[in-house]
Amino acid sequence: MSMDKTRGLKRRTVLGVLGAGAAVGAGCGGETPGSDSGTAVQSTTPFDAGPVTDFPAMTWKLLAAPNNVIIGRDAMGLFAYTSICTHEACTVRFNPTAPTSATGTTRCPCHMSTYNGNGEVQPGSRATRNLPHFQVTVTAGRVTVNPGMTVDAAARTMV
Ligand code: FES
Repeated sequence: MSMDKTRGLKRRTVLGVLGAGAAVGAGCGGETPGSDSGTAVQSTTPFDAGPVTDFPAMTWKLLAAPNNVIIGRDAMGLFAYTSICTHEACTVRFNPTAPTSATGTTRCPCHMSTYNGNGEVQPGSRATRNLPHFQVTVTAGRVTVNPGMTVDAAARTMV
């Protein structure tokens, strides 16, 4: 399979997953209205996330709707993943300090699924899939996230 076909397959797969979640999520019994009501939709348009200096090492940052992305930076570099729960498309409650610990989690307000700082769903969650990671590039000191392109959860962009 060519590289282009592989990328296309991954994109279609994640968009299908997120799309299905958004449709199902319309009936989610969220605890709070608005973006926590299970109707969050993942943008697929690349966007400028700001200067790389906005993302110091060992920090995580939520970029709210319409981007719906959490950007992290660990010892290996930058990465980004969706902030939309894979269970029924509620927006996760982001704890900017918890992901920096090995046991830290980000929690979904709808049915309390939890994810670690790399977007991996934790045991006991109703969600069964990890939060998809997206392509991150750095050009001329600025960070671009492409939610239309999924990448492996271990991928990092060196800065
Ligand atoms: S939408 Fe159900 S746990 Fe997140």
